[in-house]
Parts: sequence; C-alpha cells; structure tokens
Amino acid sequence: MLIKRRYCWDLAEHSTTDEKTFLARRKLVKAMGFFGASMGVGTFFKSSPSMASIDVKSKANPYPVARNRQYALDRPVTEESLVTRYNNFYEFGSHKNIAPAAQSMKIDPWEILIDGEVEKVTKIDMDGLLRQVQLEERVYRFRCVEAWSMIVPWSGFPLRALLDLAKPTSDAKYLRMETIADDAYMPGVRQTWYDWPYVEGLTMAEAANELSFIATGIYGKPIPKQNGAPLRLVVPWKYGFKSIKSITRFTFVRDRPKTFWEKAQGGEYGFWANVNPSVDHPRWSQATERPLGNANRVPTLMYNGYGDFVASLYTGMSRKLGSELYR
Ligand code: MTE
Repeated sequence: MLIKRRYCWDLAEHSTTDEKTFLARRKLVKAMGFFGASMGVGTFFKSSPSMASIDVKSKANPYPVARNRQYALDRPVTEESLVTRYNNFYEFGSHKNIAPAAQSMKIDPWEILIDGEVEKVTKIDMDGLLRQVQLEERVYRFRCVEAWSMIVPWSGFPLRALLDLAKPTSDAKYLRMETIADDAYMPGVRQTWYDWPYVEGLTMAEAANELSFIATGIYGKPIPKQNGAPLRLVVPWKYGFKSIKSITRFTFVRDRPKTFWEKAQGGEYGFWANVNPSVDHPRWSQATERPLGNANRVPTLMYNGYGDFVASLYTGMSRKLGSELYR
C-alpha cells in the first residue's frame, strides 16, 4: 500500500478547513455518532472523553486569578469553544481535532526538569512550582503561522519567574524547552519522520522579556490538555509554533538549540519566527490574518502588535539576518 505522508507544510492555506466548517462537521459527525451508537456503531464518539471533564487534580486550583490590566487589548476575546477545539498538537495528530485524543495525556503527577547551565539541577512537580510563583491573567493576541489568530485570556506567570528559580549561570545563552513525548498514548510520536520530542528555544533576553509567559490556565480555568496542560509557553510576538505545549524540561544551553520545526522544514519555520506582515511564508502571504470565529481578515501587525515590548531585542540584527529573523 502506498501511503502519502501529509506534512503541515504540504497544505496550501486555502486547503485548510476553517474552524466554523470544522466545528459544523464535528457537530454533524457527533450527531451521527449518537445515532450510530443506538444502532451499535459510533463507538469512537461514545468512548471519547467529554471535553468538559478535564481531569486536572492539582492540589491547588487557584483559578480564576486577577487580570493584569497592563496587557489589555481593544478587541474582544475569542470564543472559548473555538480556542479549545481548533488546535495544533502534533503529538496527537496532524489535524485540528486533537482534543479527544489529548485527553489520554497523564498530567498528574507532572515532573519538570530544570538543567544545563544552572547553579543546581532541579526536579520540581507542578504543585511545587505553583507554590513558588505569583499567578496572574493576561489577555494576549496569538498569531499562528498558518494565518489565523485568536485572543486568549491566559493564566500563569512570567517566564522570568522560572529563570529566577532556575538561577542560570553566565554561560547560559539560550533556553531550550522540551515537550513530553510518549508513543504509548501519543499517536503522532509514532510518526518517525518527525524528530521528537517537540523542542523550542529562546535567547536568554527573549526568555527574560516581560511578555514571555508560562500559561497554566485559560478562561479562568486550568488549561485543557489540548491547549498544553499543565504548562506551556506563550510568546505573543512570535508565530504560534514557538509557544511549546506541555513542557517537561527547561535546559539552559550555550548554543542555539535546533527546534522541532527547524529540523522538519527550516526554510519555512525557523528559530526566530517573529510575526512580520511584510515577510511572506514561502507559500502564502502573512500580510493579513483571519481571527477565529470571524470571516473577515484583518491586517497583521509587526511583532503581532508588541513592538514596544520586543523590538529592541532585535536592534542591529535585522540587517545581518534579513528575513531569517521572521522565519
Ligand atoms: N507544542 C507542541 N508540543 N506540539 C505542537 O504540535 N503546535 C504549535 C504550538 N505548540 C504544537 C505546540 C502550534 S503550530 C501552534 S499554532 C500552537 O501550539 C497552537 O496552540 P493552541 O492549540 O492552544 O491554539
């Protein structure tokens, strides 16, 4: 049998399903599943865990937490059902409907390793980590490289707080982050053409920037598994693939880490990935974006609108690196 591998970069933008059609199809298929169940079929939907029964057994459930108004936006937040049902999480498959499969992820207990160029290698669990940080809510824009976008109220803490706990040495030049990769329950991880685990990286200056955020909740609740439970990165001035989910390891390194997408298709998804409407993806324009739940496209903003916070990080680099800074 000849199997054609479909990579996400094989898809032209127009061939991706918009989330309204996608959710309408899911409703229809689900209705068919209920009908089918009574006929003895449709077992998939019968046995899929419900999206409402997200199993987070953290001893402390501190949500909702106070919103930090400094990052307020002039646009409404995206409907929660879109954000929690239209996802990219390749460990569970290369399609948007990964939420049912992601419910099999075991997130309690969750151990995080902090190692590399640090004063002391540390292992910490989620409860231990949450006890040492101050949680807040931030509403950020989020722009996927696929040219859709959303506005999400994330709960969590600044990545800088984790740097303070980790105490990196002066040899640390980059922060490398890694997602759990368990082929026992993550079907995507069995796809050997990808180099697992999912890895992302930031320079130390990017990691210490006040916008860099570790999200542990959304919409005033613990973060659902499909969105990266129990903790994920959010770097809103970069394309969404930099915002690595379900992190198990933070390693402080001397050399720039090779990231998951850089290894898979570096010409399209590089290390820097700063949102820039004037540098197109090789196969589509990045000038505009489609907010989830909205048929009309809106202009994409330089650094996704966060230039005041981050432009200075790249002063003097853009000339040398050209468009590489944005891929
Ligand atoms: N993190 C991991 N571990 N695996 C992934 O496949 N996808 C990335 C990013 N983080 C991904 C990941 C991409 S391409 C995007 S756009 C965002 O997660 C999507 O986040 P969301 O599903 O919460 O919208």
